[in-house]
Amino acid sequence: MEFAVTTGRSGQMELAGQAKIWARQLEVEYIPRNLYGRLDTLLEERNLDAVLVATASGARIVNAAGTFFYHPSMAVLRLQRLKNGEKDNFAAALNISRGAKILDATLGLASDAAIASYLAGPDGEVIGLEASRLLWFVVSNGLQTYTAEDEDLTKALRRIETVHMTAGEYLKQCGRDAFDVVYFDPMFRFPVSGSSAMQALRPVAYTQPLSLQTVQLALNAAPTVVIKERGERILREYGCSEICGGRYSKVKYGIIRR
Ligand SMILES: C[S@@+](CC[C@H](N)C(=O)[O-])C[C@H]1O[C@@H](n2cnc3c(N)ncnc32)[C@H](O)[C@@H]1O
Repeated sequence: MEFAVTTGRSGQMELAGQAKIWARQLEVEYIPRNLYGRLDTLLEERNLDAVLVATASGARIVNAAGTFFYHPSMAVLRLQRLKNGEKDNFAAALNISRGAKILDATLGLASDAAIASYLAGPDGEVIGLEASRLLWFVVSNGLQTYTAEDEDLTKALRRIETVHMTAGEYLKQCGRDAFDVVYFDPMFRFPVSGSSAMQALRPVAYTQPLSLQTVQLALNAAPTVVIKERGERILREYGCSEICGGRYSKVKYGIIRR
């Protein structure tokens, strides 16, 4: 995936310094914005899949499918519901207790990781892996800088540790029982319509299917592995013996216990 860094159109001077730092950190080209009017022209003429844009409101990814910037989105509502005593299917499947050590092997927008971090609390540990360098960068940045209205959510976001690595690579070097639970929410093979953030995320995400070998490695790193997928059949193929999720929910959570 080819990408470069630039700035938003306004406040170019102040943001250029930030954009140059990001370009250096990510080892990609910095393109001064005044060379191009529109970002789609920049993408086309430079033959790029995406561009990371430094704006006054933070980092944005722009590609042909749209714009993505970090926002805790669904985590806000989910946390409110949890606080009201309502059920969250993800939380129920992972059965997270205070102090739990959780590996979210497919971080994405970090909504699930935020819920896990809240439930595990300050004595717990949530590590999120993200194979896409661009997404890892923007989401990690957001987790450290975004201030939510709910202070508990802000604290939960700050506690998430992120690693830019594929699940397979990371799990290979994990000790036995390094975690209480490993969670996978890989990209669906066919996109689900309706989520604009996910649509903009798809072209920059890592879309390789989860392999059985990676699931086996996860079962060494934790006694429990949870996989989110659309169908029960695919979860059974991964070896899940318990399936949970709402009756009318489009997605299911499969659990494998060692
Ligand atoms: C469907 S999204 C996860 C959404 C996430 N659960 C949330 O709450 O926002 C999948 C994400 O995991 C990443 N990913 C997929 N397979 C991966 C792997 N094997 N290792 C690391 N990251 C992976 C993708 O790049 C994508 O960002």
